[in-house]
Amino acid sequence: MSIDNNKKILVTGAAGQIGIELTATLREKYGTENVIAIDIRETEIAKKGPFKICNVLDLNKYKRIVNDNDIETVYHLAAILSATGEKNPKLCFDINMNGLQNVLEVAREYNQQIFCPSSIAVFGPDVPKEDTPQNVALNPTTVYGLTKVSGELLCDYYFNKYNVDVRGIRYPGLISWKKRPIGGTTDYAVEIYFEAAQKENYQCFVNEETKLPMMYMPDAVRATLELMKAPLESLKHHSNYNLSGMSFTALELVEAIQKIIPNFECTFKPDHRQEIADSWPISVNDDAARKEWGWKPSFNLTSMTKDMLENLRN
Ligand code: NAD
Ligand code: SER
Repeated sequence: MSIDNNKKILVTGAAGQIGIELTATLREKYGTENVIAIDIRETEIAKKGPFKICNVLDLNKYKRIVNDNDIETVYHLAAILSATGEKNPKLCFDINMNGLQNVLEVAREYNQQIFCPSSIAVFGPDVPKEDTPQNVALNPTTVYGLTKVSGELLCDYYFNKYNVDVRGIRYPGLISWKKRPIGGTTDYAVEIYFEAAQKENYQCFVNEETKLPMMYMPDAVRATLELMKAPLESLKHHSNYNLSGMSFTALELVEAIQKIIPNFECTFKPDHRQEIADSWPISVNDDAARKEWGWKPSFNLTSMTKDMLENLRN
């Protein structure tokens, strides 16, 4: 892929499920040396390009990295996800809110463009479950959802008050094969592929009727880059775009895998994450993303399953 220009980019939470893939794509596009990865853990990502250990709660260190590297754009992915959040609500609130505020304050000072993901977790059980509208009451029941609603509002506040160009997507559950996710409720839809490819059986932690909005990682990364490139004047929303990929029940997911691995067996043993899953929509309406910046998904359950299993078996 050709290198676009010398835009300097920072990715926080770069060692996470989205971070490793988004960082790699940004490096292909803008050049390895122009994309600085930061995280609180040093993993494989540290060997693949510029990397620094940095806790986003450490404002001075974060600001020093931004300043020393002339960062113009930040993809702020550092966060605590839904299931871990319910186990440690204080930590979730602290990292998701105070970390974001640090990123926005530095963005204001250095005139940066920011990407900050939101989530389907902003919705609570009181919204229409199918085709959930873009603009609807947001009453989440998890602390993670609460931080995502407040995060969207804080991002919009920085846009309106300080002209910080901050953009965000309410990602559905993301499915990918490069890293096993930890700490989310939608993790079952990723774990199932890892276990199917390795052991041909899986015990799923939600029941077989559970149906949630999901998306394959290549679509999510493409959506992120497309939103960040969209002309600002075409955007009526900023930090809160609904984004739709596909929706399927846990049983439909098992059946899609069985078409490729006929011996695959799955049992269902719901745990505390069932309640979180039940509080989220089945599908979301993403007309705003389609109209304002031309969003269109490309993977469905069948094409994603084929690609996931091919990659995991390799
Ligand atoms: P992840 O848990 O895989 O990665 C998060 C990364 O942040 C981890 O590598 C972690 O070490 C790092 N981190 C945690 N606290 C930190 C801190 N204080 N300072 C610096 N780094 C820290 O999460 P992910 O799935 O990659 O999610 C990234 C973002 O996308 C989050 O905002 C999440 O809410 C959002 N999102 C993810 C999904 C999904 O399905 N993966 C869906 C909706 C929204
Ligand atoms: N996939 C995320 C989670 O399950 C939703 O934001 O926590």
